[in-house]
Amino acid sequence: MTQSSNDKSYIRVEGGYPLSGNVRIQGSKNASLPIMAACLLIPGKCTLKGCPDITDIECMRSLLKSAGAEVETISGINGIDIVINADTIKHCVLPSRYVRAMRSSVILMGALLGRVGEVYVDYPGGCVIGERPIDIHLMGLEKLGAQIWTEGNKIHAYADELKGAHITLPFPSVGATQNIILAAVTAKGTTVLKNAAKEPEVTVLCDFLNRAGADIVLTESFWTEGKLVINGTPVGKLCGVGFDMIPDRIVAGTYMFAALAAGGRITLENIPIEQMGSTCDIIVNMGGKIKFDDTAKTMQLTAPERKQLKNVTRVETDVYPGFPTDLQSPLMAAAAVAQGELLIKENIFSSRFRIADELRGMGADIGINGDTALVRGKGKLLAGNVAAKELRGGAALVIAGLAASGITTVSDISYINRGYQDIAGDLKRLGAEISLG
Ligand code: UD1
Repeated sequence: MTQSSNDKSYIRVEGGYPLSGNVRIQGSKNASLPIMAACLLIPGKCTLKGCPDITDIECMRSLLKSAGAEVETISGINGIDIVINADTIKHCVLPSRYVRAMRSSVILMGALLGRVGEVYVDYPGGCVIGERPIDIHLMGLEKLGAQIWTEGNKIHAYADELKGAHITLPFPSVGATQNIILAAVTAKGTTVLKNAAKEPEVTVLCDFLNRAGADIVLTESFWTEGKLVINGTPVGKLCGVGFDMIPDRIVAGTYMFAALAAGGRITLENIPIEQMGSTCDIIVNMGGKIKFDDTAKTMQLTAPERKQLKNVTRVETDVYPGFPTDLQSPLMAAAAVAQGELLIKENIFSSRFRIADELRGMGADIGINGDTALVRGKGKLLAGNVAAKELRGGAALVIAGLAASGITTVSDISYINRGYQDIAGDLKRLGAEISLG
């Protein structure tokens, strides 16, 4: 975490200025975390290059250390390089304070079961964006032969030996898919996983594990029915590797909606172009012009004049390659200053409209009815003092601040620091009047 942004508690934005310039997209949080967990399976040294310097990664580093891994962090040109040596794993009891701080710590269950056959972890429970059960994770681990006991908030999982199995997920949960993959990599025999999640954060995990010696086959039917075949490999055959982290498609999308809301022309470097189809479609339909340079991995986005920024009629969040739930709040902020109405249907998480209250305080017209939100674009927002309540909603409030006339402060930015390495610095590089206070 950059010292400057971690120590400060609010972001001050003076809105009304169009964005202009270039920014490099950070490494992906949602790819880095499961790959760090995967390093626990590997008796050797792995170097993960270009991970984001954010508090969730700090939390995962602490969790890996508490299991007995050696973890070293080196500042890189884009984020941090993390060197993980899990030669000796001594502990399988994960400390509550780190587990509770980050829901995705639950994916360490699969890795520790695969490596040492046992794990004690806290139940992650719900969170501000809605109920987040782990029944699919536990079902998959049990099918692989783990015995699981839960008492109150505590989970204890144990397996003498994990064995390959045929598992069909009732929903293509990203976290459950990753957890099951991690447990199946060293299980005896073959696992066939159906209806697995197809998010890039799943395929990159398979890619990393295969480079480390695992045998995971993404069959042709992966893209149609989410079928993965995992041929078990003994732990001793896995070995340490170097790996370049993929860029963060959600951070890229956040900056694209920021440009739409503020106006101007920006160039994003290190952008995962091939993962951004659904987001680009919406941006273009709202009036943005996009130019890709496939070789340079850059994207130039030219926003329309505010009066020409128009809402699309309806957007539903969906599993990949559909529109990501993590970009729903940034879209809502941009839609609030566009012309016309947007109906958003949130299909992944039950309570992901908490940002609407804060946006209403800035003059937005947003009606919520269960899992749908109706945004009536008003062409403008008023500056105000607002508070982040969760990660992506917090980033969306910064977008609203860029679009509003006057000075907006966004407090409680520790939520934003969980996923954005330097949102204020990046937007400042794009010409925004923004600072940490
Ligand atoms: C979700 C996103 C993922 C994003 C991540 C971090 C989707 C499908 N997943 O992944 O893209 O990177 O947040 O922001 O958009 N569920 C169950 N039981 C389970 C697991 C999940 O009912 O055991 C339900 C959840 O309540 C939710 C849905 O399945 O409604 C999606 O959950 P899942 O994909 O597991 O969420 P994450 O792994 O957190």
